[in-house]
Amino acid sequence: MYYPQEIVDEVLANTDIVDVVSAHVHLKKRGKDYLGLCPFHNEKTPSFNVIPAKNMFYCFGCGAGGSAITFLMKYNNCTFTEALKELADRAQITLPAPNYSEETKKREKHRQDLLAVNKEAATYYYKLLRSRKGARGMKYFTDRSLSPETMKMFGLGFADGASSDLTEHLRKTGFSDELILESDVAVFNEKQGLHDRFFNRVMFPIQDVRGRVIGFGGRVLGDAKPKYINSSDTMIFDKGRNLYALNLARRTKADHLILCEGYMDVIAMHQAGFNQAVASLGTAFTPGQAALLRRYTKRVLLAYDSDGAGVRAALRNIGILRSGGLESSVIDLRPHKDPDEFIKAEGKEAFQDRIDNAENSFFYELRMLSQSYRMDDPASRTAFHREVARKLCTFTDEIERENYIAASAEKYFIKTDSLRRLVAQYGNATGYGSAAGESRRGRQNTRNAANTPPDRTGKEAADSRAGRFVPSGAVPAGTPSGQAAGKAAAAGGQEKAAPGPADENTGRRAGPAGRAPAGPTRAQKALWEKQCLLLTWIVDDPAVFAQLNKYLEPGDFDGAVYQRAAGLLWQQLQGGSGPVNAASVISAFETEREQEAAASILNMHLEGIEDADDRAKTLRELVFFIKQASLERMTQSGGTQSLQDLLSAKQKLQALRTVRFQL
Ligand code: UTP
Ligand code: MN
Repeated sequence: MYYPQEIVDEVLANTDIVDVVSAHVHLKKRGKDYLGLCPFHNEKTPSFNVIPAKNMFYCFGCGAGGSAITFLMKYNNCTFTEALKELADRAQITLPAPNYSEETKKREKHRQDLLAVNKEAATYYYKLLRSRKGARGMKYFTDRSLSPETMKMFGLGFADGASSDLTEHLRKTGFSDELILESDVAVFNEKQGLHDRFFNRVMFPIQDVRGRVIGFGGRVLGDAKPKYINSSDTMIFDKGRNLYALNLARRTKADHLILCEGYMDVIAMHQAGFNQAVASLGTAFTPGQAALLRRYTKRVLLAYDSDGAGVRAALRNIGILRSGGLESSVIDLRPHKDPDEFIKAEGKEAFQDRIDNAENSFFYELRMLSQSYRMDDPASRTAFHREVARKLCTFTDEIERENYIAASAEKYFIKTDSLRRLVAQYGNATGYGSAAGESRRGRQNTRNAANTPPDRTGKEAADSRAGRFVPSGAVPAGTPSGQAAGKAAAAGGQEKAAPGPADENTGRRAGPAGRAPAGPTRAQKALWEKQCLLLTWIVDDPAVFAQLNKYLEPGDFDGAVYQRAAGLLWQQLQGGSGPVNAASVISAFETEREQEAAASILNMHLEGIEDADDRAKTLRELVFFIKQASLERMTQSGGTQSLQDLLSAKQKLQALRTVRFQL
C-alpha cells in the first residue's frame, strides 16, 4: 500500500459510494440498499447491490464487489492509486506524498524506462520517415492514399535498411543494452550482437489507452513474408490487453466501436471519418480485450475480412464479445476484402451504409450455420432447425428469446409454434442458457479458470445468483451438501468458489499449500464458506465478536486473504472504535482481485434462522469448525507450534463444545 490506511479510510469515510456508483449505474432504492444492473457483467435483472451501511457494493450475479475504490478501479480500468486520487479530489482531501516500497519504486522506474525507450524509438522512426532516408516509406504510405495528417495522427514512421541505426541512437541517448533488448526494439545474436529488430519496414507505433507507445508493428514495403512483424510482449506490452487506436477511438461520438483485424484498416477508417475503429494486435482477440472494450461501449461492430479466415474469426469473437457483456453486429464488406479496400473502392457514404445495415450477430451466426445444410433436403433441413433451436436456448431472458424465436422462424420459413416447441424441448433438457455449451455467462471470469467449478445447471446457477445461504438448521460439521457448495460459489462470483487463499504479492489464488494449483478440495471450499459466513456475521453484528474473541484469532483462519481480513476486523473491533468498517477492510487490499475476494468474504449472509437459540448454536458450530480445522493444520504442520499453543488450542476447542453464545 502506497498510502497509509488512515488516509485511505479518511477518503472512504468522506465518500458516498452511492454517489460514486450512480454516476455510472442507474440505481434504485430498495430498503436500506440500492439496486441496479451490474456494469461488470451482462444481465437483465438487477443483482448489483450498493450497501451504504457498509460503504460497499456487491454483485450477486458475478461476484464483483468492494469499496468505492474497487468500483473505480474496475470501471475505469485504473490502479488503486488513481482511484484513490479521484475520490480524494471529490472529497477535497489532499493526499500526502505516496510512500512507495523500495520494490514498487524500482518496478515503476523500470516501467518508465521501458516507456522512455519506446517513445524514443517512435520519435526516431517518425523523423526518419520524414527525412531523405525515409523516402521509400513515405512513397509507400502515399501510394496507399494516407494523408500527412493521418500519418501524423497515428505517429507512423519508417525503419530503414541499416541494421543497427536505432540501437546506436538509443545507446547514444543513454539507454543501457539490457533495457534496449528488453524493450524489444532490438534483438541479439552472436554474429551481429545487439541490432535493430525492424528494418526496411514502415512502422506503426502501438499506443495504450493513455496514448503511451508500448510496442510496434512493422510492415514490409513489398510482398515479402512475414508481411507484418510486431514487438513481442514485454512488461509494458500485453497484446491480449490492448487494442490498436483505442486511445483515439475512446473519444468517438459514435454509440459503438468497430473492431477489425488490421492496422491499415483502422487507419483507413479513421481517415474516412470513422474514428470509432480499433484493431487487435496481430494476435487472436481475447476476453481481456472484450473487457477493455466494455469499458467504453456496449456495442461492437465487427469489420473482419470477408474471406474464410475472417468469417471464422468473426464467429469466434462474437462468442467472446457476448461473454464479455457486449452486443455485436457484423459489417458485410463483400465484394471487397477488408475495410481499407472497401473504402478505397466505394467511399465513405457506402461504408456508412454498411455500418447502418450491419447484421445482428445472432442472425449472422445462423446464416453461416445454414450454409452447411441443404435446405432442399428434409433431413438436412430438420437438422438445421434443431441447431437453430439449440442456439435459441442460449437466450436466458424469456422476452428476448421469444423475439428471436419469432424472427428466426420468419427468416428460415419455420412455423413459429414448431420452433418454439423445439426450443422448449431443448430448454427443458439442458436448462436455458446452457444449450450447446454456450452459456452466455459461462465464459466470464476466465481469469479464474483454475477455480472454476464444473458447469452447474441453470437452476443451481439461478439459486446461486440469489446469493443466499440458507442452511437447513445448523451448519453441518462434515463436508457440505452440493447445494451449499453452489452457494459458496455465489460468494465468490458466478463461476468462482469461495475465495481461496490469495498470494499476498501477486493476488493470485494459490492452490493447497505445497501442491500444484490443482484447485481447492471440497473440504477446503466448505471451510472457506464457513469462514465467509462467520466474518460477514461479525461485520453485520459486531456484538458476536466479543463472545467468540476468546476462542478464535485471525491466525485460525485458512488462507491469506481470510487471515488478513480477519486481522483487520479484529484490529477494528478490539480497538472498539465504533461500527466495523467493511470498506476499510476491503481497501487494505491492493489488487482488484484481492479486494473482490475480501468483498465476497464479507458478503455471505446467514439467513433463514430466526430463532435466537438456533442462531447461537449455528454460531458455535461455525466457530468450532474453523477452530478444529486450524488445530488440524497446527498438528499437521508439526514443529513450528509450541506444545503450549497446541494444548491451549485443544482446550479452547473443548470449551467450544459446550459454550452457550448469547444472541
Ligand atoms: P492482413 O494480412 O489482413 O493485412 O493482416 P492487412 O491489414 O490487410 O494489411 P495490408 O492492407 O496488406 O497492409 C491483418 C493484421 O494481422 C496482423 C497485423 O496486425 C495486421 O494488421 N498480421 C498480419 C501480422 O501480425 N503478421 C502478418 O504477417 C500478417
Ligand atoms: Mn488490407
